[in-house]
Amino acid sequence: MGPISRYTGMAALMAAAIALPVLLSLPAGEAATPEPAACGAQSCPAGARLRAVYQGEPDSWPPAHIDEDIDYVELGALPEPGPAPDPALAALGEQLFHDPALSASGQISCANCHSPELGFTDRLRTSFGHDRARGRRNAPTLLDKAGQTSFMWDGSAGSLAEQAVMPILNPEEMAADAFELMNRLNADTGYRDAFATSFGQDTVTLAMVGEALAAFEATLHRTTSFDRFMRGDHDRLSDQQILGLHLFRTTARCANCHMGPRLTDDEFHNIGLTYYGRQYEDLGRYTVTGDPADVGAFRTPSLRHVGETGPYMHNGLFPHLRGVVNIYAAGGPRPRPRPDQAGDPLFPKTSDLLHRLDLTPEERDALVAFLETL
Ligand code: HEC
Ligand code: HEC
Repeated sequence: MGPISRYTGMAALMAAAIALPVLLSLPAGEAATPEPAACGAQSCPAGARLRAVYQGEPDSWPPAHIDEDIDYVELGALPEPGPAPDPALAALGEQLFHDPALSASGQISCANCHSPELGFTDRLRTSFGHDRARGRRNAPTLLDKAGQTSFMWDGSAGSLAEQAVMPILNPEEMAADAFELMNRLNADTGYRDAFATSFGQDTVTLAMVGEALAAFEATLHRTTSFDRFMRGDHDRLSDQQILGLHLFRTTARCANCHMGPRLTDDEFHNIGLTYYGRQYEDLGRYTVTGDPADVGAFRTPSLRHVGETGPYMHNGLFPHLRGVVNIYAAGGPRPRPRPDQAGDPLFPKTSDLLHRLDLTPEERDALVAFLETL
């Protein structure tokens, strides 16, 4: 039995389930008739009923179920990014992104782990880097990063430019030697000229490489079905997906953390996947802040394009979205200290924002169907 299933049983016993039927959150007068449970992709009476509500402006939607101290931002379409401020720099960044010469082995480019064909991920549980070293974290998509306030699962990078040099030098990723790499780039007249055009200086520096990669990454955007729905193309979402949208904002409580057009609060939370004191332990945000409250906390990932970026979570634990929804429905894993861990000030605590959820199998399917529109 895996660690997750053990905790799921425990959470199920501990939690007090408060069942709020979907229809309770509809405007008065609409909630009279009980709905049949069936809600497949084809027929979804609850979704059909909600459609009229969700086709209206967000300020007329049923209130989201958000805890008191949370500064909620409503879901919405992500604005299209404008044209790149320096198209030549973005093009240079794109060339660097695909160039394995940036790695020590001459074989690994950014695109190896962030493949444009795979939603800018590698679709692996965790990535393989230099010398087939298996990393311990899952490669996130690079789509729609504009506006994100920190990068990496633990928030260890403050900007795309700062982040971009990290994998180049990471001995388990591209493993380049900075001095040697700069010599190589400066010896390449094509690169030298391209950098000189954007930066007006003759010598290529590592910081300039980071800037160019960031300029390219800032152009990576794809419009989603949910964006189109929010812009008035209401046929983009099925009744089942609209039920999923409603649950996401209300009884399933997802919007407490996954909020706004980017579907993230840009904060760090512990979902219970730390593996504290065991193989695969990852202390997450704590490694950046040193604050015991941050043990096991990870960045709330944006859920944009989540249908095509599995496996999921910092460690790629879940191959499918349905598994993710099930773990949330159980209130998240809540590991308890072993006797030898009693009183350990670093013992991680799963977020209080996670509650056990009373979701029928049809409602879980609807949530997954909604996630696939993002
Ligand atoms: C060996 C695989 C691998 C390579 C090569 C690689 N990455 Fe990544 N990338 C990852 C993994 C894994 C993470 C998550 C790391 C973490 O959070 O600790 C990541 C995270 C990122 C992030 C943060 C995204 C977010 O939302 O927080 C960005 C941006 C990024 N990579 C860009 C790049 C660029 C640019 C390059 C090339 C210079 C590159 N990566 C090369 C695997 C890779
Ligand atoms: C307490 C804040 C919080 C709540 C509430 C929450 N999430 Fe998350 N979500 C996170 C964090 C943090 C992670 C990353 C956790 C990790 O990797 O350890 C995450 C990860 C995910 C992922 C994986 C994304 C990826 O790219 O790997 C999905 C999918 C997801 N959440 C969906 C949901 C859904 C659906 C709900 C509601 C049922 C929900 N979340 C509720 C904070 C939250």
